[in-house]
Amino acid sequence: MTKDFLCLTDWNLKDLEAIFDLTRELKEKQKRGEEHHLLRGKTLGMIFEKSSTRTRISFEVGMYQLGGHALFLSSATTQMGRGEPIKDTGRVMSGYLDAIMIRTFSQEAVEELARWSDIPVINGLTDTYHPCQLMADLYTVIEHKGNYRDLTYCWIGDGNNMANSWINAAAVFGFELRVATPEDYRPDPAVVERARKLGARVSYYTEPLEAARGAQVLNTDVWASMGQEDEQRERAKAFAGFQINRETIKAAAPDCVVMHCLPAHRDEEITDEVMESAHSIVFAQAENRLHVQKAILATLMR
Ligand code: CP
Ligand code: NVA
Repeated sequence: MTKDFLCLTDWNLKDLEAIFDLTRELKEKQKRGEEHHLLRGKTLGMIFEKSSTRTRISFEVGMYQLGGHALFLSSATTQMGRGEPIKDTGRVMSGYLDAIMIRTFSQEAVEELARWSDIPVINGLTDTYHPCQLMADLYTVIEHKGNYRDLTYCWIGDGNNMANSWINAAAVFGFELRVATPEDYRPDPAVVERARKLGARVSYYTEPLEAARGAQVLNTDVWASMGQEDEQRERAKAFAGFQINRETIKAAAPDCVVMHCLPAHRDEEITDEVMESAHSIVFAQAENRLHVQKAILATLMR
């Protein structure tokens, strides 16, 4: 187990499965209204350089439910936004806080922060990865399908931070993953190559229906991620056809589940009809951010 939670492949299967076990325990306690103050008196600093609804709320509420406290730190109103170096920020924050959650652009910046911090650093999304989301996603699959194994997963859309994280998850958890993206929007080649070396069973497609055939778990995300707003129009053209819709559901397994990390652009990457259908587990997935991250926090901070 490493000090930090930056990337799924930094962790081994046993430790990640222990997080799922703790998630189950904490979720049951929370639903029964039982106190579970595992982090009494501890403080999490939450640095945001990008917008957030789910990540901010679930980490802040999660810390409260664990008996601790969370601080919202916007880069715009701290000295980080005025250029204070990460190596100084990390050492200063280590003197006040018990852990840091950071959402920013570059994965390297998060890794640098972790290097200069004595306390755990959690990746709350970078341009490259979104590991906490993946843990919530797989936990939600476990809840709906009994376990995450022996299922075929299909990604349709952009080869972005979420696609990269699914590829990492395939490497660590061992399931079969099919990734369908337009030719020019494939996942990061370095991520693909590393997963291949780790023995991941991932195949790459440019035809979404072919990738979806018989899959039990369908997944997508926005065509333009945070920071790519200027490319929205050109991307909308490139991704036409990379939508989860009625046809995709027909091609997939009859009991398939549909996932989306949210926020979604209805009738772009996913139709409103599918979002609202019985196949969709997107809101359970969103809620599980809270439960899984509490387990991640407790694992790192206790
Ligand atoms: N899925 C997710 O991370 O949502 P937010 O951007 O709202 O935090
Ligand atoms: N790929 C999206 C995920 C948002 C949770 C983004 O980075 O904006």
